[in-house]
Amino acid sequence: MFSKETYLKRRNALRAKFNDGLIVFLGNSDVPMNYPDNTYHFRQDSNFLYFFGVDLQGFAGIIDVESGKDIIFANDIDIEDVIWMGPQPSVKDLAALAAVEHSFPFSELGKLIKDAQSKGRKIHFTPPYRAENKILLEQLTGIHTSKLKESSSVELIKAIVSLRSIKEPQEIAHLEEIMDIAYEMHTNGMQMAHEGVYEREIAGLMEGIALSHGGMVSFPVILSKRGETLHNHYHGNLLKNGDLVIMDAGFESPLHYATDHTRTVPVGGKFSQKQKDIYQIVLDANNMATTLIKPGVTYRSIHDSATRIIAKGLIDLGLMKGNVEDAVNAGAHALFMPHGLGHMMGLDVHDMEDIGQIYVGYDDEIRPATQFGTAYLRMGRRLQPGFVITNEPGIYFIPALIDKWQNEKINNQFINFDKVREFIGFGGIRLEDDILVTETGSRNLGAKRIPITIQDVEAEVQKNTGI
Ligand code: GLY
Ligand code: MN
Repeated sequence: MFSKETYLKRRNALRAKFNDGLIVFLGNSDVPMNYPDNTYHFRQDSNFLYFFGVDLQGFAGIIDVESGKDIIFANDIDIEDVIWMGPQPSVKDLAALAAVEHSFPFSELGKLIKDAQSKGRKIHFTPPYRAENKILLEQLTGIHTSKLKESSSVELIKAIVSLRSIKEPQEIAHLEEIMDIAYEMHTNGMQMAHEGVYEREIAGLMEGIALSHGGMVSFPVILSKRGETLHNHYHGNLLKNGDLVIMDAGFESPLHYATDHTRTVPVGGKFSQKQKDIYQIVLDANNMATTLIKPGVTYRSIHDSATRIIAKGLIDLGLMKGNVEDAVNAGAHALFMPHGLGHMMGLDVHDMEDIGQIYVGYDDEIRPATQFGTAYLRMGRRLQPGFVITNEPGIYFIPALIDKWQNEKINNQFINFDKVREFIGFGGIRLEDDILVTETGSRNLGAKRIPITIQDVEAEVQKNTGI
């Protein structure tokens, strides 16, 4: 946990944005995998972590706007729990670590909410995303599970986004620190990209490194030579020289902050000329985006600049045709990059996505696009110092999408389908870094950038000669 003052300051900052009401945060509980006592790895709710810090099952917190009180609700463990789990601090002591003076048994939470409702007070909560908390919230508020999302508090969502979007100096320092582990995960993964290795061996190694540092992966590892599938979690392929492997993986620290990087490496350590040509376009888009990231600029405009670099590169290679501006305006680049440039990152790898991407990435000024491809952009709004965002352009050759566009003559005037067909089986390339928006510009998080130039990636893979 951070200092107790951190959590008090955050709660007071949140409270100051409200005139009235009870703000309710439900922590997470254990979720069974295949029978009740065999549970998934516990992951606390990020908002609960941010405002109350306690990383344990069965907690809830209330911020009372009018009285200025903060209360934690949880049950002290009994002797049977001690036998299985060992001794645990009392709820009161845990609450004190977050400077919360008041704590009550969990059963009191419902009574407090009902009492507030009977007095006509507002109950502010975020949209629950787990079945257990949906059921609990229905029991606590009387609002049917199907109506919880629409009954959640937009005022609260906006207030949380305004606080969590700007990372505190201690959060930035922590993110900087954990980038070393992302570096270790990725460089070790790169060194294993040799003929005769199964993808699962590399994915397992990378995940194991995350676990060995006391954390876990920030999302299920995406690692495949079939990298044209954007989120490919199948790791059963055997690598052969000539394959390209996408490795998209992040560390989640013991404090639950995320890293998120993608590298694409040639099996055996030598890119073919065809691979180099595509790789360099993606790298140029990534590097250009980083130079454009600064306060006051919309992330949407940076996404658009990256897609122009991709379209220009593909026109130069003869895969696309026509004028760059017209092709991008028509959305023709989305055949190759059908996703957005990046997203906010912090306590969640897609930060605050549980409370609504529309509030995290967009505002009254910048609205989400509807065009295929750009509609997947999770972040469009103007950047501010303290934002942490990813920068992850890519180029993919997706057979089903190529077939569809060719059959339906979609953007026919901008695509050389005969040439594109020569790339079926190529896979995909994505290059992702984690970027801090500073007062004057931006910088890559971490002391060392994970190898990314063609030369450095080849050298990294060649550090090991395979099995
Ligand atoms: N790196 C996974 C994602 O951003 O969706
Ligand atoms: Mn990402």
